[in-house]
Amino acid sequence: MKKEINPFDYASDIFKALPTGILLTSEAEDCVNAMTIGWGTIGIEWGVPIFAAYVRTSRFTYELIERTGEFTICAPYGELSKEAAKAIGICGSKSGRDMDKLAKAGVHLVEADIVRPPAIKELPLTLECRVVFSQLQPIKEISPRFSKFYVENTAHSEPHVAYYGEILKAYIIED
Ligand SMILES: Cc1cc2nc3c(=O)[nH]c(=O)nc-3n(C[C@H](O)[C@H](O)[C@H](O)COP(=O)(O)O)c2cc1C
Repeated sequence: MKKEINPFDYASDIFKALPTGILLTSEAEDCVNAMTIGWGTIGIEWGVPIFAAYVRTSRFTYELIERTGEFTICAPYGELSKEAAKAIGICGSKSGRDMDKLAKAGVHLVEADIVRPPAIKELPLTLECRVVFSQLQPIKEISPRFSKFYVENTAHSEPHVAYYGEILKAYIIED
């Protein structure tokens, strides 16, 4: 069962969970993937609720969102369960190019109502999002204060793309 919510009433739950990581699911041609994200913004633009995620161009997730323009945000609600912590660990350290991370994590996928990427029972606070704007963040235009995030010839050399997803539906999955 899904309890529909106003996403802004639960923004603080999402912000509290971000430093440990929440999941962003994407899906293209029946390939379902999830990556852990630690950065995200919730707000209003063009008069609609927006979740902005920042995805490096090196991620498999980047390829999937570029193809479909959709993603689902899956955050813990309340205490972080062992299953959710395991999923966050796997999805933040392995690439969907090499394995089915969600199967490996053993979490239960729940069909989303509007978009293709699924929700996840173990991370029940859900935002279904469709990209309405995206923008590559040129590294040389970012304050040098943040240069540690972009180091050439490392896994951190690639820039982020900001994906502004309109929040089409928000809910908590209940048993
Ligand atoms: C706590 C945590 C937060 C992360 N936040 C982000 C993020 O906001 N953006 C990003 O591009 N990668 C982030 N990552 C790295 C990706 O989750 C990781 O590279 C993942 O393996 C990418 O999966 P994919 O190739 O299947 O898309 C984070 C990792 C961790 C552990």
